[in-house]
Amino acid sequence: MQIIRDLAALHPAIAALRAKGRAGHEQMALVPTMGALHAGHMALVAEGRRRASQVVATIFVNPLQFGANEDLDRYPRREAEDLAMLDEAGCDLVWLPTADQLYPPGFATNITIAGISELWDGAARPGHFDGVATVVAKLLIATLPDVALFGEKDYQQLAVIRRLVADLGLPIEVAGVAIVRDADGLALSSRNMYLSSDERGRAVALPQALNAARDAIRAGTPVEDALGAARDTLAAAGFTDIDYVALVDAASLEPLATLSGEARLAAAAKLGKTRLIDNIAV
Ligand code: PAF
Repeated sequence: MQIIRDLAALHPAIAALRAKGRAGHEQMALVPTMGALHAGHMALVAEGRRRASQVVATIFVNPLQFGANEDLDRYPRREAEDLAMLDEAGCDLVWLPTADQLYPPGFATNITIAGISELWDGAARPGHFDGVATVVAKLLIATLPDVALFGEKDYQQLAVIRRLVADLGLPIEVAGVAIVRDADGLALSSRNMYLSSDERGRAVALPQALNAARDAIRAGTPVEDALGAARDTLAAAGFTDIDYVALVDAASLEPLATLSGEARLAAAAKLGKTRLIDNIAV
């Protein structure tokens, strides 16, 4: 696996990778990450390998997508472990840009995606999706993959990135990959590392609340009652700052008062100092 830190070395390395195509496969898949990798990221790499002959990953903790009081400083950084995992998973090249390379002095561009990025996590974390859209645009343009892979755990992020790529007319397929969960159902997340063992035990209430709400809605319980019960379950497990528990349209992410078409149940709340998000199909 090649490890590239220098922006000047990236383009020749990617051109060389592109030359090694495999018949019947797209040439290159991109897996953008912020490091602190887990099995969810490895599922992205595996899907990249299934679709493309070459897989490129990026590791960059993007300061633009963290709010002033968020966890940029303590976000886990585990470069040696991450590189070993990517190598083991069969990644061909990893690019570790620095903030100076992506945002050189004078950098003044901000990408805002109206509508879809203003809902839910966008409302709870102002500016977050601007930061995501700006860095993802830069990573996509620098590497120009055929397909870029993102986890469905950040379901709204995936929708925002689909909008970004469509609006900018980038010739890149954006593919979502299903959430990977621990045995008890908790969605894997780099931020799970923040949880104490007591919090980790209680965190399972998040997928449990969503699963119970899905079952209740499918059985005909009014949506508002099912969402209220899910909020109660979260509060009883010690979650605070419940930003949302919502039934949303799977494409537009607009709230749904009744079940219709493809829908998603999504929630965000804090356990101690850790903000957790999750979502499931209904
Ligand atoms: O999902 C993430 O890890 C990040 O938001 C991303 C897409 C790599 C952009 O920094």
